[in-house]
Amino acid sequence: MDKTLTLGIETSCDETAAAVLRGGRELLSNIISTQIPLHRKFGGVVPEIASRKHIVNIMPVIDEAIAVAGVDLREINQIAVTFGPGLAGALLVGLSAAKSLAYALKIPLVAVNHLEGHIFANFLSAPELEPPFLSLVVSGGHTALIRMTDYNRFELLGQSRDDAAGEAFDKIARVMGLPYPGGPEIDKLAKLGNANAVTFPHPKVAGYDFSFSGLKSAVLNFLNSAQMKGEEINSADVAASFQKTVVDTLAEKTLAAAEEFKLDKIVLAGGVAANSSLEKTLRAACTRRGFKFFYPTKILCTDNAAMIACRGFYQSLEKNFADATLNAVPNLRL
Ligand code: KG4
Ligand code: ZN
Repeated sequence: MDKTLTLGIETSCDETAAAVLRGGRELLSNIISTQIPLHRKFGGVVPEIASRKHIVNIMPVIDEAIAVAGVDLREINQIAVTFGPGLAGALLVGLSAAKSLAYALKIPLVAVNHLEGHIFANFLSAPELEPPFLSLVVSGGHTALIRMTDYNRFELLGQSRDDAAGEAFDKIARVMGLPYPGGPEIDKLAKLGNANAVTFPHPKVAGYDFSFSGLKSAVLNFLNSAQMKGEEINSADVAASFQKTVVDTLAEKTLAAAEEFKLDKIVLAGGVAANSSLEKTLRAACTRRGFKFFYPTKILCTDNAAMIACRGFYQSLEKNFADATLNAVPNLRL
């Protein structure tokens, strides 16, 4: 059994996170310091505040990850850090910490793509999972269908041409007066509503690409026009109908891609993977078609450093290391 100790560091958005992983799958600690309450009063993440808060939090969070893991900092064998995509100023805080520690401890540094990290959260939740599989990555900034043929080989089958799924959830929630982040709020509200109450147009995009801006406009128009006419709306019905349209679109394309590429494992990843309706819909569809369905435990769905450590571990097996010139790449792609 591989006993390599990887320290993961993640600061791409509004979570300061550090984790210690033994080998590829044994999570020893997973510390997340969220800034959500801080950004809530602004209705979204304020990049400048996020960076400043990361600076204050990063060393205590790393110290706690080491302490909870019950190891000594000098026992860490390598450091995996998110270098993109994300907010430039936020990424730089994690990168500076990781580079300084790697230099001081004379250990290798691994540069991790945050989106790849989200997929790897599944290896921690389901230690038996192995590629090949199809992954649907749905987060605040990205929506993508990815074919993973091996731990280090990804093929992008399609992605959103405009808004990400999480972004659409957050924007609709904001207009409905719900707090940030809107995804979990819509999820909660939708449970009280009728998903067939309002018919919103299904996004029509060829292939495996997605588009959510048309749907977002349709929901906003619906809300505005009701307000102008002084009509009462049932916000639970609107939330449920909007959510169903997003979930059906995501599920439809995912299943079609799984059929076409003959992949019998479907792996959900990213913050929106925490959506109860998406999970239920995909699980049921997978059961009907005989596919295996995987999705991370809630704490591993949203941003964390455990997934970054896990991705970093598999990169290190290919000697895919970075050096001190590593910089943040805010618009990094898969
Ligand atoms: O992956 P993540 O933590 O951060 C990014 O890498 O973007 O994803 C955050 C996104 C937000 O848009 C948030 O509203 C959404 O995930 N989200 C949800 C739920 N929980 C988080 N969306 C729908 N339903 C949820 N239960
Ligand atoms: Zn994320």
